[in-house]
Amino acid sequence: MAFLSVRNLTKRFSGLTANNDISLDVPEGSLFAVIGPNGAGKTTFFNMVSGFLAPTAGTIEFAGTDVTRMRQDKIAAMGLIRTFQLVQMFQGMSVAENVEVGCHLRTRGGVGSALVRPPWLRRQEAELRAKAHELLGFVGLGAQAKMSAELLPYGQQRLLEVARAMAAEPRLLLLDEPAAGLNAHETDALAAVIQQINARGVTVLLIEHDVGLVTRIAHRIAVLDFGCKIAEGTPDEIKRHPDVIAAYLGTETTDA
Ligand SMILES: Nc1ncnc2c1ncn2[C@@H]1O[C@H](COP(=O)(O)OP(=O)(O)OP(=O)(O)O)[C@@H](O)[C@H]1O
Ligand SMILES: [Mg+2]
Repeated sequence: MAFLSVRNLTKRFSGLTANNDISLDVPEGSLFAVIGPNGAGKTTFFNMVSGFLAPTAGTIEFAGTDVTRMRQDKIAAMGLIRTFQLVQMFQGMSVAENVEVGCHLRTRGGVGSALVRPPWLRRQEAELRAKAHELLGFVGLGAQAKMSAELLPYGQQRLLEVARAMAAEPRLLLLDEPAAGLNAHETDALAAVIQQINARGVTVLLIEHDVGLVTRIAHRIAVLDFGCKIAEGTPDEIKRHPDVIAAYLGTETTDA
């Protein structure tokens, strides 16, 4: 049984089939990528896996448990943690506080109580600060810990989001286009961080537009097009796959 096992997942929005009968197995410990053109259905797939959208049909199993219609906070509590395609900073909070909030994604109360800070939570704060500090160092933002998060350059905000997701101690980390809007140098730094996360034992499911990044770091890649999975394989197999080249790679600048 795969760590994440998706069977026949389908999502219809009135007239549109955003995900059409998608099946996928993500092995524990792997760095697995989902690629596809704009509107292919990648974020919809993530929204269903993480409990933000109910599927029209199909099943999702995570770590041996059927999570198909489970609430998003329950899924997060099991260790399935996601980031969002658009940067979501907590305004008016420091970089370190933004990471500390992430620690509560898996604990009782969730983010809401993290913002209110009841007494039982304050007792844990020293521990949280140490953990946030470690994670900021890990993503290369140690020097920015006290800065206001919204003042960070965009590329560093994306790294901050990854640190915040890591604070929730994911077993499976879903990253939705973390390299969107990054320059080549920032993308390289992010790629290294994602690989180190995986080396720490976290299974990673990565949505990306940057085919060069994905073929460099992913162990295995699934390709979506118009809501359907049209291919799956190793980076080398994907780069050579005629349907993938026709649907996607042929329209992109790649380093392949
Ligand atoms: N809540 C919704 N209601 C109606 N249609 C939606 C909804 N969410 C997504 N869609 C549609 O479903 C299709 C797939 O969208 P999705 O966001 O999953 O694609 P994507 O692969 O993530 O695209 P991108 O690369 O641009 O992020 C698109 O046609 C989109 O307009
Ligand atoms: Mg998307």
